[in-house]
Order: sequence, then C-alpha cells, then structure tokens
Amino acid sequence: MSILIKNGIVITHKEIFNANIFIKNGKIHSITKDEVKADIIINAEDKIVMPGVIDAHVHFRQPGGKSEDWESGSKAAVAGGVTTVIDMPNNIPPTITINNLIKKKEIIEKSNTLVNYGLHFGVTEDNLEEVKKVIGRDLKRPLVASAKIFMAKSTGNLLVRNLNVIENVVRSSKLVTVHAEDEEIIEKFPSRPKLAAISAISKLLPFANLGKICILHITSIEEAKLASPFYKEVTPHHLFLNSSILSKLGNYAKVNPPLRDEKDRLSLWEALNNNLIDYIASDHAPHLKEDKEKEDAPSGVPGVETMLPLMMNAALNKLISLQKLVELMCYNPSRIFGLKNKGVIEVGADADIVIVDRKLERKVSADELHYKCKWTPYEGMYLKGWPVITIVNGKIAYKDGEFFQIKGNEVIYE
Ligand code: DOR
Ligand code: ZN
Repeated sequence: MSILIKNGIVITHKEIFNANIFIKNGKIHSITKDEVKADIIINAEDKIVMPGVIDAHVHFRQPGGKSEDWESGSKAAVAGGVTTVIDMPNNIPPTITINNLIKKKEIIEKSNTLVNYGLHFGVTEDNLEEVKKVIGRDLKRPLVASAKIFMAKSTGNLLVRNLNVIENVVRSSKLVTVHAEDEEIIEKFPSRPKLAAISAISKLLPFANLGKICILHITSIEEAKLASPFYKEVTPHHLFLNSSILSKLGNYAKVNPPLRDEKDRLSLWEALNNNLIDYIASDHAPHLKEDKEKEDAPSGVPGVETMLPLMMNAALNKLISLQKLVELMCYNPSRIFGLKNKGVIEVGADADIVIVDRKLERKVSADELHYKCKWTPYEGMYLKGWPVITIVNGKIAYKDGEFFQIKGNEVIYE
C-alpha cells in the first residue's frame, strides 16, 4: 500500500517547503516535486504536512485504571495528530519490575492501539538492579525510554526521597526523567507552591554532570533557568491555563504540579521562545468525573487530543513559529528519548505524518473528543488548526473523524 501526499506545505524543525511525499512500506520513500503513482492520493494543497507529534508523557492507565485504556487513549492521540506516545509507570501494578514491564507490553500488544508507543520505567528506593537491566548505561538496546523518578507523591504513590538513590540511578541510567517537586516542602505547604519545584530542581543540580536528566512539567521561567543543565519539558495546561480557572473548574483543574498565576504562565512562553524549553508533552492524566467530583479528588487533566490544536492555534497567532512547534513536539522528543527514525520528514524515516487544516476552526467540546473520561479543561475554546489526517507507520489511522484498524508498534531506542 503506497500513499502520495500531494502539494502540502511541509514543515520540519528546519524548514518550510512545498513538496509531494511518497510513502511506501511504512517509510517515507521520496520527497519530490514530481507526480508519483500511488494506491492512495491525498490532496494536501493549502494544508500543513508535518511529522506526527511525539507525546513523551502520557498516562493511558492500562493496566489497572478505569479512566483510559490503550484503545481510547490511542484514538484520542491520533485524532490529535499524535503518532507516538511514551507512557508513564504509575499503573496498578506499577511498572517497577521487569516482570511488570513485560506484562504491560503484552497488554498493549493485545489491545487495539492505533499509536506507536514507548514506556517509562518507575524508580523505587530499592529497584536499582532492575533499572540497570532496562535502561542501564551499557545496554545497546534499552527496553524503556527513561527511568522515571517521582520526588513527590502523586497519583500512584511512587516516591523516592533518598538522594543517594537518585544519584545512583542517574549514574547508572541512560536517561532519568523527574517529577521534581520536593515532598518535604509539600508536607509543610500542601498547596505545592513553586518553591517545592525550585527546591527539588536545586537538589538535582549536584548530579548534573553524572548523567542525563530531564525535568518534567516545568511551570515557570525561574525553574527553566535553574534547570539549565537538564532537559526540560512543559505541558499545554501550564502554557494555556492559569490558577484563576480553579474558581470555575474546581478539582477538574487540580493537577501536579499545580497551575500557576498568569505571570508564570506568560513566563513559560518567554522560556519557549528563548530556547529554555526542550519539548512539549501533554502529561495526559485523565480521571473519571466521579473521582474529580470528590472533595479529595485525584490530580491530573487530560490533554493528548488537544495539545496539537492548542499549539497550532498559538503558532498561527504567531506566539511561536511553526518550525519551533515541530522542533518542540516532534524533533526534540525523538532526539532526547532516542527514538529511531521518528520526528522528521526525511527519506527513510518512519511514515508518521499528520496533515493539519490550518483554516479549520472548531470549538473544543468533550463530546467530540475521544477520552473515556469525557471532560476537558479547554471546553468551549475556539481553536484553529486541527489534524484532518494522521498517518501511522505509512497507514491512515485517522481521517476526518473516522478511525481505521491499524496497529501501532513499540518504538526502537537508539
Ligand atoms: O497531576 C498529575 N497527575 N501529576 C502526576 O504527577 C501524576 C498524574 C496522574 O497520573 O494522574
Ligand atoms: Zn505525568
């Protein structure tokens, strides 16, 4: 099965150009001005053609949770232009042993996942030997994308307090991702102030030269500057929402780390445009309405399906350039997590491509999104620039609201 995407506006992290893209055997076979014969021809005139988005931080909840699974999560992903996700380990049971990792992979393989996937491995105070076996420095082919450390309690109660443990994991792993909030500060200040994030990042600074560390969900430019030796992630909710929305959404806007004030939110855009942020990921953390309605509601917001439309709308309004968008959402996550053949539009790369209609405006409505939880913190927002076709491994996975039975693959780490 071959596909020709004709006359699109191709956007990569480096350049913008008009071309036809010819896809065959799951790969980008050629990028050309010529007419090529193909089984399927897609007219992409006036549309944006870019690498599929890589969302390096999702919680698809399976095994163990009810608020999402690989089928619903991956539908939401491809409808949102995401072709690869990397899933977090705070499942039930948590992905903290090789045995649980293998079982989780089997569950995903058996599910109808439309999206390519990788997994993060959870760190505990005593699983260093397992960590080494899945993401150890000397492994030629790691089994996971990173060793994930929670320095604070969040959904799932994975917590590492001991800094010696963190140091050893950093020394032994190819890449460590960190939920950097300081549990000691949170115990004194349950509102989880910015100080908790600043303090946790400070505690990691002595390890900067020992290995690669990525700080997840940065919430202000101060954190970004302090975390300069590390990779840095930012989420759409910290970019597009501020703490004032809590009075309207209540616990639906409860998330760790919390939404900050408008000044901090704006500072993240400054950080983005000054190259202080490496990539954007959704931290898609769905919870059922019945749980969010409780007084002691769990933290987290869904976001995998709205991340690209939010960023596209922002780019079309000139908040960042389209090339920067591709760098932050495709190229950099691929490079940081070592994903082979992903995040680029180049001959030989995997044909993971999204076609965006830059003129299509839609009102965000949970009814039309594909989350199992059926709510979104962006309800009612008007956004321009939605995915119309998503191609995964050279096959159409999503087109104009319709899904096709294709199967995502596990990524290969370089
Ligand atoms: O708000 C959050 N939700 N923060 C986390 O660290 C975990 C996540 C979840 O899994 O629900
Ligand atoms: Zn998360």
